[in-house]
Amino acid sequence: MRVLVTGGGGFLGAAVSEALIARGDTAIAFDTHFPNAGIAAPEHCVRVQGDITDMAALAQTVLAHKPDAVIHCAAIVGVLFSIGSPINIVRINVEGSINVFEAMRIGGIKRCIHISSEEAYGAFRAERIDETHPLEPVLPYGICKATVEQLGRTYRDLHGLEVINLRTSWVYGPALPRDRIPRNLVLAALQGRALHIPSGADTAIDHTWIDDWVSAVLAALDHQAHRFDVYNVSSGEAATVTELADIVRELVPGSQLSVGPGLYRHGNRIELVRKGALDISRAQAEFGWKPRFDIRSGLAAYVEAIRGQGE
Ligand SMILES: NC(=O)c1ccc[n+]([C@@H]2O[C@H](COP(=O)([O-])OP(=O)(O)OC[C@H]3O[C@@H](n4cnc5c(N)ncnc54)[C@H](O)[C@@H]3O)[C@@H](O)[C@H]2O)c1
Repeated sequence: MRVLVTGGGGFLGAAVSEALIARGDTAIAFDTHFPNAGIAAPEHCVRVQGDITDMAALAQTVLAHKPDAVIHCAAIVGVLFSIGSPINIVRINVEGSINVFEAMRIGGIKRCIHISSEEAYGAFRAERIDETHPLEPVLPYGICKATVEQLGRTYRDLHGLEVINLRTSWVYGPALPRDRIPRNLVLAALQGRALHIPSGADTAIDHTWIDDWVSAVLAALDHQAHRFDVYNVSSGEAATVTELADIVRELVPGSQLSVGPGLYRHGNRIELVRKGALDISRAQAEFGWKPRFDIRSGLAAYVEAIRGQGE
């Protein structure tokens, strides 16, 4: 299979491109830049430097490389960026996604796996929520995700596209590029630095280990007939920031990590709305995907991977 991976130079896009290549598929990675040198096997990997706001570049890419499907990861990521420049995130995340859908029309490509986010839900109304929870996003990032999901339905109804939305929750892995939990906890512990996170004891978040996220995307890509167009993808359990720090302390004895009371804040500034666990039973029932890592085994794998990099 030939798969166009938008954002193929980023954390998730590069990981799924590598997984496609490893199983013998061809990844056409499309991104404005490629900081991750990891993508090997050039005979199965095409890199296209381009911008999803450039419709002509996307159209040329699908016509030249003839992908069978799209995994759409390109986006401005993170709620802080979205607050700093709402117009920019709408241009890239919404307008860019429309260009991806238009390019699919031009290239006769039916299926797109769109990487959505638990931010599309807004404040969780229960400790564990499933895909029927209302979409009440509160910040531009989540509003854009919900909008792209809905635009995917428009393209389904008008043009026969099949846009499958994976509502992904806080993925972590060695290449996580952002300075946030649990990366900051793991790095501080391994570098012998004390770290105090001012607040977060009352925020429980469902964290997803990178390998589980990759296997979910491939399972959704491969599934023959989807009965739904949206699936939660996460570990299925939430942990408070204090619990994360406790686990990292156990994994790296002697580390000095502490977490203050209250809700976690994005960049120590913007208080998170209520989060929790995602119910992932739909993905399991429909395409047989199940995460292999809980937060403890995922953090253990994370610590080992960072140790292996010589941190
Ligand atoms: N990492 C997570 O925890 C998480 C959780 C939920 C959803 N997501 C979604 O998954 C996707 C990938 O996230 P990530 O963590 O890999 O982030 P990332 O920042 O590492 O990757 C995003 C990639 O998109 C590229 N990009 C940005 N603007 C572009 C443009 N105009 N044209 C082409 N490429 C552009 C960036 O260069 C980057 O390589 C995003 O859509 C993100 O919203 C991520």
